[in-house]
Amino acid sequence: MSMTLRRLSRAATAGLVAAAALTAAAHSAEAADTLGSAAAGQGRYFGTAVAASHLGEADYTATLDREFSSVTPENEMKWDATEPSRGTFTFTSADRIVDHAQSKGMDVRGHTLVWHSQLPSWVGSLGASDLRTAMKDHINGLMGHYKGEIHSWDVVNEAFQDGGSGARRSSPFQDKLGDGFIEEAFRTARAADPAAKLCYNDYNTDGVNAKSNAVYNMVKDFKSRGVPIDCVGFQSHFNSNSPVPSDYRQNLQRFADLGVDVQITELDIEGSGSAQAADYTKVVEACLAVDRCTGMTVWGITDKYSWRSSGTPLLFDGNYQEKPAYDAVLSALGGSGDPGDPGDPGDPGDGTASCTATYTRTADWNSGYNGQVTITAGDEPISTWTVTVTLPAQQSVSSLWNGTPTWNGNVMTVKPSWNGTLAAGASTGFGFTAAKNGSDAAPTVGTCTAS
Ligand code: XIL
Repeated sequence: MSMTLRRLSRAATAGLVAAAALTAAAHSAEAADTLGSAAAGQGRYFGTAVAASHLGEADYTATLDREFSSVTPENEMKWDATEPSRGTFTFTSADRIVDHAQSKGMDVRGHTLVWHSQLPSWVGSLGASDLRTAMKDHINGLMGHYKGEIHSWDVVNEAFQDGGSGARRSSPFQDKLGDGFIEEAFRTARAADPAAKLCYNDYNTDGVNAKSNAVYNMVKDFKSRGVPIDCVGFQSHFNSNSPVPSDYRQNLQRFADLGVDVQITELDIEGSGSAQAADYTKVVEACLAVDRCTGMTVWGITDKYSWRSSGTPLLFDGNYQEKPAYDAVLSALGGSGDPGDPGDPGDPGDGTASCTATYTRTADWNSGYNGQVTITAGDEPISTWTVTVTLPAQQSVSSLWNGTPTWNGNVMTVKPSWNGTLAAGASTGFGFTAAKNGSDAAPTVGTCTAS
């Protein structure tokens, strides 16, 4: 769609968008029983990353439309997706997400304009002056296409190195244009769409550390020199190696004190059950304690499509059941579910037993490997579970423990041996040894069913 057409169609649908927003507001006044409406009650948005390719899946879209008030395209606005060759812009997938969000009255975060990753190779091969022009053209191309339609843009993503130094990360932009590329990007972005909030976004900056200090000093410098910047995004991808920092709130607050908004932009926390729920509570409480923390985005709707799916880091399991983490977030947002909604805090539950299964290879040698399948109960306690595992045709299983298999060709159906009974959110699993017989491919784990 050309820029002009897009603007025309945007104007034509503006009435519809306003109507949808009104419906959402009316809903929140009645009962804050969803993430979006509960967050709205706190003056915040609650968003999710969305992949255009899943919008045709009824449960995915129903969950998105019911729960979330903001979306971030997970990959569709990145440089490789939007300008795969110089000057040729493609917006088909990103437009699908933006159009869907607008039809439901949701905000859109733009992610991301200048980043070293998911960057087409032609960019890296340009000389400095050409690269500067290409960077500005890219910013103008995207921000022009979506002018007036994006709540906040991640103008520059991940420009600092991990580790103790607080140095800039090597990238074509850094290496050829120097530190100044960041402010050039922000100045270009301000001119391209003055209505959009302009964010710097990064990871491992969630607590006070050398990397967040370096970002802090940059933002402070930008504010003192009048370089346009409105917000800082904290990705907040957490797991046991990178837990929710104890000084998360203090860190958000010190950035806010510089005069920028802060946003939690890509939240996910690996784990399950009550421990995962408690970590989500910490994050929501930290954001709510900081006036300028304007919203939170989780990095996906369902564990099954998470970029870290083996860590089950999201609020809905693979069957779109609300996890304990969902209840914890809704409750921390002050939400009060309707009795009978599955998983609402304080409810007895809807009685639907569910489970999810994830696979990891735990050992590997020339002729064989060990696999482990982890079973996690959903919102309800369960007394038994069933999982199918399909092996590549050549492979054969020589032993299996903590489960009872039956075979049909290369498909094994596994039920518990002693470990059928699980509390809500609790995990167990079974392991097996397989002979590769020439195929190193991974088995496929089917849907987990429970009762
Ligand atoms: C990830 C997506 O979730 C994946 O689908 C993709 O393969 C790689 O990128 N930091 C970011 C996000 O800013 O854009 C990344 O998203 C996750 C880390």
